Amino acid sequence: MTENTHLQTNSDNHLVIGGCDTTMLAAEYGTPLYVMDEQAIRENIRMYRNAMSRYYGNEGLVLYASKAFCTMAMCRIAHQEGIGLDVVSGGELHTALQAGFPMDRVYFHGNNKTPGELILALESGIGRIVVDNLQELAQLDKLASEMSKTINISVRVKPGVDAHTHDFIQTGRIDSKFGVALENGEAFAFAAKTLEMPNITLTGLHCHIGSQIFDLEPFDVTAGVMLGFMAELKEKLGISIRELNLGGGFGIKYTEDDDPVEYDRYIESISKTVNRICTEKGIERPFMLMEPGRSIVAPAGITLYRVGTVKDIRDVRKYVAIDGGMFDNPRYALYESKYTFLLANRMNAPKTDLVTVAGKCCESGDLLGKDVTMADAKPGDLMAVLATGAYNYSMSMNYNRNARPAVVLVRDGKHRVIVQRETYQDLVRNDLIPDDLVP
Ligand code: LLP
Repeated sequence: MTENTHLQTNSDNHLVIGGCDTTMLAAEYGTPLYVMDEQAIRENIRMYRNAMSRYYGNEGLVLYASKAFCTMAMCRIAHQEGIGLDVVSGGELHTALQAGFPMDRVYFHGNNKTPGELILALESGIGRIVVDNLQELAQLDKLASEMSKTINISVRVKPGVDAHTHDFIQTGRIDSKFGVALENGEAFAFAAKTLEMPNITLTGLHCHIGSQIFDLEPFDVTAGVMLGFMAELKEKLGISIRELNLGGGFGIKYTEDDDPVEYDRYIESISKTVNRICTEKGIERPFMLMEPGRSIVAPAGITLYRVGTVKDIRDVRKYVAIDGGMFDNPRYALYESKYTFLLANRMNAPKTDLVTVAGKCCESGDLLGKDVTMADAKPGDLMAVLATGAYNYSMSMNYNRNARPAVVLVRDGKHRVIVQRETYQDLVRNDLIPDDLVP
């Protein structure tokens, strides 16, 4: 699902998601409110899973990159749909454990895992640790032998492909905090080092070339680079790499200007490339992993806000302020991200206004969109921001001591809270006033 086909308008001209009238959801749960369409999430997962088996046989696994939206209910959905999980912190790992996610299908990423996180991973019987660098490798080796554990690892490789430039580049991406580089021999030295470590087996190669990528070609080029390295490890070190994880990064439609390819075409194209190169080079086809995050959850989610102050500064700008902002969606403040804005209570209103949607934080840069075209918003209107299912709740914060919104999961007219709204009491829960705090 690359379009917002799960959204409808009812006869009252209200926006409907998962069979639920958004004005009713706002009345029942308050705003701001994250709403996630369960069916859309499941359909996206199934599309990837089916594409993997269609184009690569039964020798592949889709992992959900939980950083996009990590809650216990989401981990449960991923488990029910039969995919694996990418976690990148002890907190995400703990969430998966609490949700009863099978640990053999969890992959632990991160460029600076703490000793505590590595111990938690080893104790939990995690499937793979994706080791970032030689220092972490030494640390993991020490911990694994102290704990008498053996562990299968992958190595995070910098394949030298930058998919974010207009004409993506194939070299010069050594300047990254993630992983070990191919071009200076670091990745090779890493692999050689694992041979000295009896508790550690290098079973996989991993890379991730970026996010919100619209082209197929960078993935194909990356697959070629990684398979070349696989062949080199076999030939020079006798290491048989069984797994190739090509990361996530598939782009989604935030506005009319975005033109993503259907998600299954990424899997089709990558599978064909891997099959072709393996035949050409005479190497064994690896088990293939892909780990999309955004494309599974972003299109399935919307955020509802109540419009408050409308400030029309003549000949300058019209600000429409909502009761959320950078604390529930910091993506405009961080990346100037673009979104689609609707009036959920007046879907038939003509989209003729040019406005700047402002948050309520004490920060001029707290905007959700600048110069966006939408309907003429009035105080009290219900605004919906589309495609906020990824990297919104997961990047939310408490700036200005704003409480984080609830997350409601909708399906067939049913609505269930999967993350409760924070209360003022939650905000002071961890605060302490020391007894000896005297002037
Ligand atoms: N695998 C690895 C190792 C990653 O680092 C990421 C994303 C993914 C998979 C999933 O990529 P996706 O399919 O979601 O593009 N906060 C930013 C996005 C950061 C992505 C970080 N890594 C945003 O809001 O756009």
